[in-house]
Amino acid sequence: MGLRSTKSLATLQNEAGDEGGESLKRSLSATNLIMLGIGAIIGAGIFVLTGTSAANNAGPAIVLSFVLAGFGCLFAGLCYAEFASMIPISGSAYTYGYATLGEFFAWVIGWDLIIEYLFAASTVAVGWSGYFIEFLGQFGIHIPRAFAAAPFTVEGTHTLVRTAFCIDPASGLVAMKDGAEIAVAACTAPFVIEHGIMNLPALGLVFVLSCLLIIGIKESATFNNVVVAIKVAIVLLVIIFGFQYVNSANWHPFLPPNEGTFGKYGVSGIVQGAGVVFFSYIGFDAVSTAAQEAKNPQRDLPIGMLGSLAICTVLYILMALVMTGLAPYKSLNVPHPVYVAIAAAGKPLEWLTYLINIGAIAGLSSVVLVMLMGQPRIFYAMSRDGLLPPMFSKVHPRFKTPYIGTIITGVVAMAIAAIFPIALLGELVSIGTLFAFVIVSAGIIVLRRAQPDLPRPFKTPLVPLVPALGILICGYLMYGLPSDTWIRLIVWMAIGLAVYFLYGKSHSKLANQP
Ligand code: ALA
Repeated sequence: MGLRSTKSLATLQNEAGDEGGESLKRSLSATNLIMLGIGAIIGAGIFVLTGTSAANNAGPAIVLSFVLAGFGCLFAGLCYAEFASMIPISGSAYTYGYATLGEFFAWVIGWDLIIEYLFAASTVAVGWSGYFIEFLGQFGIHIPRAFAAAPFTVEGTHTLVRTAFCIDPASGLVAMKDGAEIAVAACTAPFVIEHGIMNLPALGLVFVLSCLLIIGIKESATFNNVVVAIKVAIVLLVIIFGFQYVNSANWHPFLPPNEGTFGKYGVSGIVQGAGVVFFSYIGFDAVSTAAQEAKNPQRDLPIGMLGSLAICTVLYILMALVMTGLAPYKSLNVPHPVYVAIAAAGKPLEWLTYLINIGAIAGLSSVVLVMLMGQPRIFYAMSRDGLLPPMFSKVHPRFKTPYIGTIITGVVAMAIAAIFPIALLGELVSIGTLFAFVIVSAGIIVLRRAQPDLPRPFKTPLVPLVPALGILICGYLMYGLPSDTWIRLIVWMAIGLAVYFLYGKSHSKLANQP
């Protein structure tokens, strides 16, 4: 037994069927799973990044970037679906790695998934806080600046988050827009960035959602259903009413010519734009972490993942078309592009502008919820394998949730959301997720060769073409991300290796089997 030892499918399926004391409660239906997927997918990406990347990368052809990123996710999603139907265990890609590539690779994916879930929860919580503060501002409620921003920021702040304020040192004026401080990225001289003490709304959101997740998966799913209904309704209103006021002149040129640098318009802009908007698709795979709480996981997990992905892809493409049709793409380079696009329609759609903040607040909160749900469930699987301490697999006797893992995840996410310049982390979340997608796609090819006769309730079509395309597209999108993001990924993985060799390897249940 060593680094390459894999867990047999029979063992995994036994574990999935375990109904003992430390097992989770099976209460989620196929509809719940689709709603969880949509809950995790529609969020900061569509509400913020669409505008930025239309303005800076592809113009109205950002629609094609959504198509390209959507294909990458579809191919990886089909591979996830095959695994999820065979191995309905809460560890998601971590467990799939354990079954195919061995313990060491499983650890690497498990550690990598922390970037996707934990860091995404914190990043999106801060994005949520920006919208929430703006929303309260409309009602004359102002949160003191010191408690609405992180203590420090970094230059070139990521557009997903607003962690500081722009102050004019001479007059003390704060740069304002729609009653709230505007994004750091929009600060220009003479304004300087002022920092806060902590981002209290972001911390508060993570706290409340973590409590909900401890109380129960069913309660969390019900909350998620309500929030998803609100945000999808608002997205549909934007699409349906927005379409009526599209000025088709805004779609010309559909793909502005390249301006001399890679990624600024032209075909390279579509590709780079796909790398940016990929963030909007992250989350459908979180459905697989609820495998041990699904009533009929083998049938419903593929439905949950592929169903939510398909619905969101269609909504995203229509939304991108409407937004670039309503306003000139260059005007969308703001932190609230959906608002700007709808406001461009003037008086007739003024009523809709008031709803957009609500859509964003609802949308972003369910992303944080599902990410905070996914993380402890991956820890749960890793802990049951001995690679993490046993407390991570403790299940609450009454609530039947992995409560200690949820508390630890919540506390760390609160700390990151409150005090870290998480602007750093947005692209890290994308690279971490893409990495997991590449490994899962490769895993399908490996397992089809190694064990062709295993029963597969859901089969990825056209293997090895589909997984190979998944690897290619996701690998290419990773390649297009900035080099400092790569360095952060490598540093994070190096820390993970240290943890594995200091703890996981010696405690592994598989390695220490008699
Ligand atoms: N897809 C999620 C979002 O866009 C992470 O917020």
